[in-house]
Formats: sequence, structure tokens, C-alpha cells
Amino acid sequence: MFTMETLQNALEVRNLSVSFHTEDGLIRAVRRVSFDIPQGKTLAILGESGCGKTVTALALLGLVDFPGEVTGGKAIFQPSQGTDKTPVDLLNLALDGEAIRRIRGSGISMIFQDPGASLTPVYTIGEQIIETLMLHQAVGRKAARQLAILALESVGIPSPHLRVDSYPHQLSGGMCQRAMIAMAICCRPRLLIADEPTTALDVTIQAQVLELLRTLQSETGTSILLITHDLGVVAEMADDVTVMYLGSVVEKGSLESVLGNPQHPYTLGLIASLPNPEIPRQSHLPTIRGMVPDFAMAPPGCPFRNRCDEEMPICENEPRLMRTGPAHEVACWLFDEDVKKNQSECGIEQSVRSHPCG
Ligand SMILES: Nc1ncnc2c1ncn2[C@@H]1O[C@H](COP(=O)(O)OP(=O)(O)OP(=O)(O)O)[C@@H](O)[C@H]1O
Ligand SMILES: [Mg+2]
Repeated sequence: MFTMETLQNALEVRNLSVSFHTEDGLIRAVRRVSFDIPQGKTLAILGESGCGKTVTALALLGLVDFPGEVTGGKAIFQPSQGTDKTPVDLLNLALDGEAIRRIRGSGISMIFQDPGASLTPVYTIGEQIIETLMLHQAVGRKAARQLAILALESVGIPSPHLRVDSYPHQLSGGMCQRAMIAMAICCRPRLLIADEPTTALDVTIQAQVLELLRTLQSETGTSILLITHDLGVVAEMADDVTVMYLGSVVEKGSLESVLGNPQHPYTLGLIASLPNPEIPRQSHLPTIRGMVPDFAMAPPGCPFRNRCDEEMPICENEPRLMRTGPAHEVACWLFDEDVKKNQSECGIEQSVRSHPCG
């Protein structure tokens, strides 16, 4: 069983910013995003489609291509393999250098949202897993093949000794997803980035894959960056949660604080829009008013303000993250000390705070 040597973070991301140069202008898809992933823990990034989750992950692996560009920030990764334990800034690695090859192998691996992104069509899935194992672990071809079969079995692929010789096009989408998960975890990475790892899978296999990730984590101390829009998966897997909206972090903290006591109006809306198993046949679930706007149409100030029932004049200014508890931060003016003081001086109760004096 893995034991923590120190309390250090496997990854510390500070003010990561990514922009895309498009015909509609500059799209700031990731805006000064910061988070930590402690060693052996799981951080979930939660948010609706298009809020910048995948772009955040791709930036960490140096995979943002033109017209995108990482415009700022740091991502300090603490490798622990071998003798070299010097922290590295992932945003500052030569993309064709030895360091990034080493880190992309057993240091960090990624389960891509799109399985096609990491499986090569011209090789069998077995060859691809064997190649990865031989490159990053001191094993010969025969042993690697056995390990590949075991890896395929562990992700629920039936007849793995036969499937190992299949090409990706001979497998269903869900099966490819599982093969890719097997490839990502076979080298027992220090950090696993899992981008919607179970969305394409049916419920039984989904539960099996989540269990597999938990086992990997308890055996090897792997840290996990889990990207998902599924609150159920978050509740089951995460230690910490970061909620993103239109490229910005709007709320972050421990799982208990964010899901148990959500504070940002966006997080409250996300949670309210989920079906509640205790209420039978909910035909009208509450939804968040309006649609996620295009990045180019995002309002200045708080990005959520044109969908927010709590909007105040001060929301024309962008709120910073404010600490609201020992493990809880929220980017919302409702939690600013001066705003709260103003509200109580105007005699405004929490329940009618949608009309504050500003
Ligand atoms: N190649 C690209 N060219 C231009 N803009 C892009 C490109 N890739 C991403 N973007 C912009 O970045 C935003 C964030 O995209 P991203 O893929 O990170 O969203 P996501 O949160 O992963 O969504 P989903 O849940 O649908 O996977 C998009 O809304 C889009 O505006
Ligand atoms: Mg995505």
C-alpha cells in the first residue's frame, strides 16, 4: 500500500491562461486558472461544455496547437521517478526535448476525451500498449505483451488475449476508450489526466473503470486530474473540486465544501439542475437561465452575471476568488466583506439580495 512520504503537491498550476486567435477575435478560453493536486489525491474540474476543461489539460501536456497559445502561467510538476526529483514547469519545456518525452511517459499520462486522439489506426492496440510499456519500464517484449493483456483485462475488455491483436477500427467506441485507459495507466503514472474518462461507457463498465482508477491510486499514489461534467462521478471520485465557467475558476475547495455547501450561483444552478433520486418523476428540473454565451459575447466583469439571479451593479467588475472557509474559495461579489457590510447597512436580507444597493 502506498504511503505518503511528504505532503507535497504533485502539480501546482498558477494563473494558466490560454487564448485562441480566431476570426471572431481573441478567445480567452482559459483565464488565470490556478489549482493544486496533492500527491495521491483526485482533483475534479467540473463545468459545462466549452468552459475550458480540455484546453486546460492539453496546455499541461504542451498540446495546445495553433491557433491556440498558452499566454501565461506556471504548472509545476513534481516528478518522483528515478534520481531526478527536481520540479519542472510543464509550460516551459522544450516540446521536442528529452524532458517532455520522459514526463509524457511514466510521469504524466492522459486519457483523452476523444479516443481517436491517442490510438494510432495503423497499429494493433496491443502493439501500442507494448510500445509504451517497453519505452518506460524495463521490460522485454514478451513480458510487455503479458502485461498488455492484463491491462486490457483490467478495463473489462472481453477475451483480452484475442483483442490484444485488434486494430482500433475493429473495436467499438467504448472498447477503444477502454483500450486507451489501459494504455494510460499501464505505466502507473504519477499524474493521470482523465478527460471525461467514462462518458462513452455504459454504467457497469463505468463503475468498473472508476474502481480501477481508485485501485491504481491506492496502490501507486497516482494523483488524478479528473475532468467531467458528471456530478455523480465527481462525488464518487474527487477529494477536491474546481468549478469552471467560461474559462475562469468560479469556485474551488474540498469535495465536502463545494458539493455540500455550494456558494457560487453557478455551482448552485449546476447542482439544482440534477435529478434528485428522492423526488419521483421530476418533469421540470430547474435550469440555469439563458445559455452559456460565446466567449466573444462574454460580458465584462463577472462572466456569469447575465445568467445570474443575484446580479448587482458591482458585478460589472470581475470578482477575484475570495476565501469563504478553510478549504473553500468563491469568485462572487456576494462574498466580498464590503458588499456584505453594505447589504446589511441597507437592511437587505439574504433572501432579497437580488436587489442590493450595490
Ligand atoms: N482549436 C480551437 N480553435 C478555436 N477555439 C477553440 C479551439 N479549441 C478550443 N477552443 C475554444 O476553447 C473553449 C474551451 O474548449 P474546451 O474543449 O476546453 O471545452 P470543454 O470544457 O472541454 O468542453 P466539453 O465539456 O464539451 O469537452 C471552446 O469553447 C472554444 O471556444
Ligand atoms: Mg472537453
